[in-house]
Amino acid sequence: MIADTVDRRTMRSAVELACHAPSVHNSQPWRWRIGDRSVHLLADLRRWLPATDADGRDLVLSCGAALHHLRVALAASGLRATVHRLTNPDESDHLAAVELVPGVPPDVDLGLASAIARRRSDRRSFSTWEVPDAMLAELTGFAAQQGAVLTPVTDRAARRRLGADIALATATHARTPGYDTETTVWTGRATGDDGIPAANLPRVPTAGTTGGSPPARSGNRREPTRRTAPCSRCSARRRTTRSRSCALARR
Ligand SMILES: Cc1cc2nc3c(=O)[nH]c(=O)nc-3n(C[C@H](O)[C@H](O)[C@H](O)COP(=O)(O)O)c2cc1C
Repeated sequence: MIADTVDRRTMRSAVELACHAPSVHNSQPWRWRIGDRSVHLLADLRRWLPATDADGRDLVLSCGAALHHLRVALAASGLRATVHRLTNPDESDHLAAVELVPGVPPDVDLGLASAIARRRSDRRSFSTWEVPDAMLAELTGFAAQQGAVLTPVTDRAARRRLGADIALATATHARTPGYDTETTVWTGRATGDDGIPAANLPRVPTAGTTGGSPPARSGNRREPTRRTAPCSRCSARRRTTRSRSCALARR
């Protein structure tokens, strides 16, 4: 039976690991409900960034990353997950119901579970280094395994057009009322378990993307930092870029 105490603890551990997922501004816009044989993923609309992410796409992508991490974490614990997306039209923030049965799914790379807590975003500016074709092919394959399409933009003219589009998007964001405030609220934090730590911010802000130069991003020139920080909700200390919100405590 799945619905015993031990398995509930397993589900909780898997959810905690899932909370290491990347998210826009590290806003961690998710909530979880644990049932007897299921885990439910909900959007946490209090953490939505309407000026940065008007259509909520970044929020949903962030939750999608958490859902992926949950499946990997469950698989590593010997639980097979069947995901049902957007099951309830009356509850639009209910993004997925994850149904559980015992058994390791054949298609999940269990090595990914140990990588979850080690992974972190690298916000240093992109260089002109050409990503090797073999690596592009590998990344495209990884995306396809998750049902996503990754399209490398290798053609020079296409790259210039993309650079111009990114510059336009950056300028549009800069003119959007509330965007600066949101960025300020979620970045440069000295304490806490969410948002972008001050240590990860650029010493000199990167400019927008221009014509043929490599894409700039809202990032820094330093290496991604590791720090140990306590979770404000459950006091767990984890060594990671930052400790993650104890999402269970937010239910
Ligand atoms: C939907 C989405 C959008 C993101 N946008 C940016 C971005 O514009 N610039 C950037 O440097 N990082 C971006 N990130 C990365 C997040 O800032 C990063 O995942 C978050 O701060 C957590 O840090 P970690 O990945 O090191 O755990 C994005 C992540 C997601 C999921």
